[in-house]
Amino acid sequence: MIDKAGTADPHDRKAEAAGPFPLLFSPLSVGPRILANRIVMLPQGMGYTNRGLVEPRDVEYHRRRASAIAMIITGGTATHPSSQSRQRNFVEAWRPGVVAGLRARSRAVHDEGSLIVGQLFNLGFYMDAESNRSVPLSPGAARAPGLRYAPMAMGGAEVDDVIEGFRRSAANLARSDYDGIEIHGAHGYLLAQFLSAATNKRTDEYGGSAAGRARLLISVARGVRSAIGDDMILGVRLSVDDEVPGGTDAGQCLETINLLRRALRIDYVSLAIGLRGTYVQDSSAPDGIALSRIAAVRNEAGLPVIGSQRIRTPRCAEDALARGDIDLVGLARALIADPEWADKARKGAPKRIRLCVGDVQDCRQHLAGGLQCMVNPDVGAPVVIRHTHRRAGDGDRPVAIIGAGPAGLETAIRLSALGRDVAVFDAHGEPGGQVLKAATAPGRSELLDLIRHQVAELHRAGVDLRLGVTVSEKELALLEDAVLVLATGAVGAELRRPEWLREDTSTAAISTVWETLSATSAGDTQRESIVVLDDGLGDWPVLTAAQQLAVRSRSVVILSAAASIFSGVPAESVAGVKRRLLDSGIDWYGDVRVEELVGSELRVAAGGARSRRFELHANRIVIETGRRSENALLRSMRVRRGSTYAVGDVLAPRTIGIALREAAQLARVIADKRPARSY
Ligand SMILES: Cc1cc2nc3c(=O)[nH]c(=O)nc-3n(C[C@H](O)[C@H](O)[C@H](O)COP(=O)(O)O)c2cc1C
Ligand code: SF4
Repeated sequence: MIDKAGTADPHDRKAEAAGPFPLLFSPLSVGPRILANRIVMLPQGMGYTNRGLVEPRDVEYHRRRASAIAMIITGGTATHPSSQSRQRNFVEAWRPGVVAGLRARSRAVHDEGSLIVGQLFNLGFYMDAESNRSVPLSPGAARAPGLRYAPMAMGGAEVDDVIEGFRRSAANLARSDYDGIEIHGAHGYLLAQFLSAATNKRTDEYGGSAAGRARLLISVARGVRSAIGDDMILGVRLSVDDEVPGGTDAGQCLETINLLRRALRIDYVSLAIGLRGTYVQDSSAPDGIALSRIAAVRNEAGLPVIGSQRIRTPRCAEDALARGDIDLVGLARALIADPEWADKARKGAPKRIRLCVGDVQDCRQHLAGGLQCMVNPDVGAPVVIRHTHRRAGDGDRPVAIIGAGPAGLETAIRLSALGRDVAVFDAHGEPGGQVLKAATAPGRSELLDLIRHQVAELHRAGVDLRLGVTVSEKELALLEDAVLVLATGAVGAELRRPEWLREDTSTAAISTVWETLSATSAGDTQRESIVVLDDGLGDWPVLTAAQQLAVRSRSVVILSAAASIFSGVPAESVAGVKRRLLDSGIDWYGDVRVEELVGSELRVAAGGARSRRFELHANRIVIETGRRSENALLRSMRVRRGSTYAVGDVLAPRTIGIALREAAQLARVIADKRPARSY
């Protein structure tokens, strides 16, 4: 078994045996190095690159996260042109030109007292041909599920070239003062495509038995070790269960680890479940979803094991260490959402952590502009909203914020941190605004973690949060001297009579999705057949309303004029939502046009010009109307007074992430004490 004692602790600040998380802050030897604690930042490709080179914001991102954790594994580093996109948003580790940027990165991480390990990968057939700069490679010529073009089956020359790409890239990272290399053999990427019997059908020495399928990985690992020598860490990321019939499971994972260890010195393994599309799990997955499967391998692996996936809280991490499921705690999104996660845990303040809420939205759909985070507006490029209602002296006045949704709460947190006197008012008895509705969707209640955190921070800062208080225009006028921030959000747009509805012949009740989401009780829908009409955007409100209605109704059907009713849902959430709709007995049809409603018969046409017509029985039709800004107050107050600002959906209904980024900018604008300046 592994020596868990470690030796002298090189980073006193980071390792503290006492406190509520003693195991999390205990050291561990990994190969030639000692990790100060058990917290490892997992690879996270951020796209903060310019033509394959590291940008300064990448360096700052890593610096910000390095201070209290033991090791950062940097993400998304391509080793070969066959795994680079046209935008060149992966670091091109095989080029000598990357060294200067990587060195700046490693210096920043070392300055904060953390180790830095670089993950090297080749995406294989997942490097979709259309977005690839080169030709995607794979063990065979079969297409990846969901991709249009087949990859090139690797011959001997490509095998040698790929091995050389890893070796050369590792040498460049070693020259950049890295402490180690991680080889990516998981997530269904090139090396995992070789490891899995489901994708490797080769009959040469790189296929067949487990040893044959592991041959490329072992050759790559040997090449990397030869480039970095014995003083650096060498780790491998492997799948413990790729959740594919005939694919990799715990037994095969262990076999690969044994083959690797017999061939050379490996210092740790990082184990994961799932493939592309499933390895980043949304909030419908339980915390620590992979831990039991990882534990089954960890006990036999004989080397330190990093476990991960939906480890959100220090308690979850400490418990996993205490059970012996894992040796090191891998965090990706927890550290995107809160770079001070480890520091707050170390100080015994886990409740102050801003938790990742598992929306898989802002951090996963960022490709062009680089990483963003829904709950952390400091990640990614700031928004630029022009604020033209500024008055001289706004930088010193007290601030009244109307609206306790995410935008209003965030503005208050940031202004109070900047020393401003702030009060928040909301007509509702509960803070959260539209998030209260969004969080009613099955599997999405974690959205409330954001509101809980914001409210707790405001209480801590002594900010006055006045709920259930309607502030009239008259009262606002009395706050003559205050800066006013309107964060009144958005509500459902009014229903316009659809052209297919003739009220004289219709017996079906008509209402909106917003009304369903606003209902305090499910109402008496038990015997009703309900049709929910999507507006073609395939977004959460329709799916949420349908699931609420299905709890009590006889039948619920969703119709959309668009081909898909899921187009507004993050890719990594679609499979789960579909499953939940099916479990609730909900049917759906895309590409459907409503023609008329006669009595309670809804006549619809499906398909194109030669469409098929059918009828659906509907006692109730629930229509998605979208949202409109709740901006009456904004319009009237702006006319009458300066020092009136707006933030979030009151400007235009958009997302939580945008609302928070606007709040972060607005707080800076209001707190700016320089003479009045237009923003
Ligand atoms: C924005 C983003 C980029 C990622 N890029 C990589 C990557 O380059 N290599 C990798 O092995 N995993 C990557 N991952 C997966 C994470 O390392 C991690 O396995 C996954 O997010 C689950 O852990 P979590 O629940 O702590 O986020 C990425 C995840 C995110 C959210
Ligand atoms: S965007 Fe959402 S899922 Fe991604 S890290 Fe932030 S909170 Fe977590």
